[in-house]
Amino acid sequence: MRTWLRRQRPTADLQAQREESNPSLLPPIDTSQPLLTVSGVERSFPVGGQQLHVLRGIELELYPLQLVMLKGRSGSGKTTLLNLIGGLDQPNRGTIHFQGHPFHLCSDDQRTVIRRKELGFIFQSFALMPLLSAWENVELSLRMADVPRPGWKARVTHCLELVGLSKRMHHRPFELSGGEQQRVAIAKAIAHKPSLLLADEPTAELDSQMGAQVMGVFREIIQTERMTICMTTHDPTIMEVADRVYEMVDGKFINS
Ligand SMILES: Nc1ncnc2c1ncn2[C@@H]1O[C@H](COP(=O)(O)OP(=O)(O)OP(=O)(O)O)[C@@H](O)[C@H]1O
Ligand SMILES: [Mg+2]
Repeated sequence: MRTWLRRQRPTADLQAQREESNPSLLPPIDTSQPLLTVSGVERSFPVGGQQLHVLRGIELELYPLQLVMLKGRSGSGKTTLLNLIGGLDQPNRGTIHFQGHPFHLCSDDQRTVIRRKELGFIFQSFALMPLLSAWENVELSLRMADVPRPGWKARVTHCLELVGLSKRMHHRPFELSGGEQQRVAIAKAIAHKPSLLLADEPTAELDSQMGAQVMGVFREIIQTERMTICMTTHDPTIMEVADRVYEMVDGKFINS
């Protein structure tokens, strides 16, 4: 576990910069082993003196370079599950293995370290720092992940280019459209090179054209940044681009 936590990610050296501009130079990824495995996961909450059973035995596997979508009616438990996968919450029962390690047994501090290095989050409401520019918002996640400062400029430039916002880098969130804000949020979420990107209804506040644009960016970052993406959505047209769709009913997946 310790070695796993201590593992340093490549940052600003020349090789990393070369790889950034040409992903074909990166070593191949073993896509046969799951990046994350959720097994028998249950989560309930005490409400009014009773237990509300939200998740009742979730089985899920996320493989490298996959775009996985979770669907289900409002209140079915999608966000609850995403919070567990992202280490923001812990299950009452069951196991969550991330990169082969028992995430469900980690302490709060250990989960925080893993979250900062290995996970990226995107929320429906963008969650950008309102007083910081697009550039500063992206830079903030490099600072939080302890990425050495010399690598920041190249990485922020690359991430804003990737989401097509080079020309808006000095704008603050209120000076950007909804779609642009969500694209800054994507750049911010991937800047520290997480292996897993979690997105809770990332297109819900966007019109269909902007939603399609965000999905285009997701597809591209899976290829060029070599991440796995797990997201929730209610939108059937968005689901068409998924590699796998899981449907949640009564706290379980009906098609897993
Ligand atoms: N901390 C909590 N305490 C009590 N109940 C909770 C808590 N978190 C979630 N719930 C309940 O769990 C259920 C599932 O909530 P969740 O937010 O996971 O649903 P969802 O599938 O994401 O819905 P939506 O599509 O509306 O976002 C809801 O009924 C909610 O009220
Ligand atoms: Mg939700």
